Amino acid sequence: MRYIGGKSRLLEFIEKTIVAHTTNARSVLDIFSGSGAVSSYLKEKNYNVISNDILYFSYVLNRGSIGLADVPKFNKLGIPDVLTHLNNLKLEDTPFSAEQLFITNNYSPTGDCKRMYFQPDNAVKIDIIRLTIEDWRTTGLLNDNEYFYLLACLINAVPYVANITGVYAAYLKFWDARTFNALHLTAPSICNTQTAARCFNGDFRDIATQASDILYADPPYNERDYFPNYHLLETIARYDYPPIKGITGLRTYTKSPFCSKKEVSGAFRDLIENANSRYILISYNNEALLSTENLSEICMSYARPGSFHLFEKEYRRYKNKIPNNKEGLKEQLYLFEKI
Ligand SMILES: C[S@@+](CC[C@H](N)C(=O)[O-])C[C@H]1O[C@@H](n2cnc3c(N)ncnc32)[C@H](O)[C@@H]1O
Repeated sequence: MRYIGGKSRLLEFIEKTIVAHTTNARSVLDIFSGSGAVSSYLKEKNYNVISNDILYFSYVLNRGSIGLADVPKFNKLGIPDVLTHLNNLKLEDTPFSAEQLFITNNYSPTGDCKRMYFQPDNAVKIDIIRLTIEDWRTTGLLNDNEYFYLLACLINAVPYVANITGVYAAYLKFWDARTFNALHLTAPSICNTQTAARCFNGDFRDIATQASDILYADPPYNERDYFPNYHLLETIARYDYPPIKGITGLRTYTKSPFCSKKEVSGAFRDLIENANSRYILISYNNEALLSTENLSEICMSYARPGSFHLFEKEYRRYKNKIPNNKEGLKEQLYLFEKI
């Protein structure tokens, strides 16, 4: 999934740094896992991975892919091709009423709703697929692995039909061509390493205590919080009929301390103090909320003498299609051994 601050183009940089500058590191706690790009890559490289994110939809993506050692069998369900079955569902074939369709009623232009996140047909599909998956689980037809696998398929499919420019903080005022495609679930790739990753959905302060050789931290870099940018994926994943407000139908959320100038240094200190890992590896950049000097100082105050390294790589911005080298944005990796 395309994700703000996603590290899909920095995976080799991260892995090479680990290989060259750590010893006997076999387990990694990816504590701000977002799209799961780093966790999946490291799992494929046979690291024991623990993933975590405060966003539930991120947990769903991870739990339903790297959280599995194999593709689920759906034995109890007795439907030969579950994804095709879900892709072909029609409202009239389901037991669901119009009032139950939270996405249709709140994020597509039907009835009183003016929001244009989804074409009505796709909104209905999202609702009935989501409700069906929940129904199957409640009635004992799906185990946890099967449940999260199907939810991950749904979350992965949504961006391909959403009327947005990449994030859900706003919708377009005209229908983008992609919204006319029918929502289509496809299978996520499951790498069969036999060791499923352990996945968490918690605050970094609680999860940092999980033991691992390396704690990899890729927190938010600036004041732009992830929640409002991905609120719709969160609501589809949770499907908890939350109170929503405003033009975009936003649910309430707590701002991340990494997105606050006042709180960011304390957040880094909390993260490192709570860490139960020999190595700390932090992704950040040279234009982030905390300066390179300040973050280096924090790292060095917890580092075994001589173990601190800062690696930098030129990077082009998320939004720009054309690289612009004069901008000087550098992606950084801070690495040290914790005392
Ligand atoms: C830069 S993104 C991570 C991107 C990820 N490495 C990838 O490649 O997709 C930062 C992540 O930190 C998460 N986050 C923010 N505050 C958090 C908190 N208090 N605890 C755990 N995760 C948090 C956000 O939800 C977001 O997914």
